[in-house]
Amino acid sequence: MKKILVTGSNGLLGQKIVYNLLDRGNFEIIATARGENRLKEKNGYEFVSLDITDENAISDVFEKHQPNVVINTAAMTNVDQCESEKEACWELNVIAVKYLAQASEKHNSHLIHLSTDFVFDGEDGPYTEGDEPNPLHYYAESKLASERILQDYNIKWSIARTIIIYGIVDDMSRSNLVLWAKSSIENKQTINVVNDQYRSPTLAEDLAEGCILIAEKEAEGIFHLSGPETHCILDLVYMVADYYDLDKSYIKPITSVSLNQAAKRPPKTGFIIDKAKEVLGYNPVGFREGIKILEDQIKEKEK
Ligand SMILES: NC(=O)c1ccc[n+]([C@@H]2O[C@H](COP(=O)([O-])OP(=O)(O)OC[C@H]3O[C@@H](n4cnc5c(N)ncnc54)[C@H](OP(=O)(O)O)[C@@H]3O)[C@@H](O)[C@H]2O)c1
Repeated sequence: MKKILVTGSNGLLGQKIVYNLLDRGNFEIIATARGENRLKEKNGYEFVSLDITDENAISDVFEKHQPNVVINTAAMTNVDQCESEKEACWELNVIAVKYLAQASEKHNSHLIHLSTDFVFDGEDGPYTEGDEPNPLHYYAESKLASERILQDYNIKWSIARTIIIYGIVDDMSRSNLVLWAKSSIENKQTINVVNDQYRSPTLAEDLAEGCILIAEKEAEGIFHLSGPETHCILDLVYMVADYYDLDKSYIKPITSVSLNQAAKRPPKTGFIIDKAKEVLGYNPVGFREGIKILEDQIKEKEK
């Protein structure tokens, strides 16, 4: 059986990948994360604590486990934190990817790496894999630099770019667009929502499936793995409010300029996902269906 190593297995995507792999049962799984294992399910895979900024630790883990495939989900994902902690961002989002590429080259592993719609400037979305990146902030620069690193090594590589992931983690420690909008309005808090940024939200389970399809099909190159619909963020929040029948007067439309964020966000991204559909058989759910899946998962947890 082929061995697959997942980095960042405590993260949102990392958790979904491990659970999907457990369901499939066609890979030997090595789940790795910084610190302790926070997955609720502890059986059916091997857990190894791995900080991917530690070059020696990566060497040791690859030496011991000889993975055929590696999926790197670990990253500094908070855009404004990347702006204020540039050194730490570069170390994790770029230098650590170099360590993984080096080890993948040495052990002949297929390296699948996660990237973002933010590599584009958002002037001309939705984007295909062939469109020209033009990052607007440090997080985006770091992710684009990491994409280029993969291409510098003599390895089998794949880049899975994605957009606004929504989903729940085992301990419900992470919020997302749906949970934030729902809980704020239910608590009668007015929320400011931008009306000039367009995105294709991605259900975490769909993204995990896409990454695993890349691994199974040994599909190389860049893949755009997002949800199938592109909407303005304001409209996404209205869709959440409609779904739960919430009072929309708590939603205050604003422009991006008024937010005054440290890192300027691209106005209109969104992906054209035809390549992933054709090559991988990727078939993500629409946003309304995704909200329903999330709701069912939360109900299941509350039982
Ligand atoms: N979330 C989005 O909307 C979005 C959009 C576009 C692209 N992406 C990309 O998709 C990927 C997955 O995102 P996500 O939302 O699943 O992120 P996430 O939930 O923040 O998970 C990232 C994981 O990386 C771990 N990590 C941090 N430093 C580490 C280190 N030195 N060594 C090992 N692990 C480390 C974190 O550990 P702790 O849990 O211990 O902090 C966390 O569990 C990332 O590459 C991200 O750039 C995400």
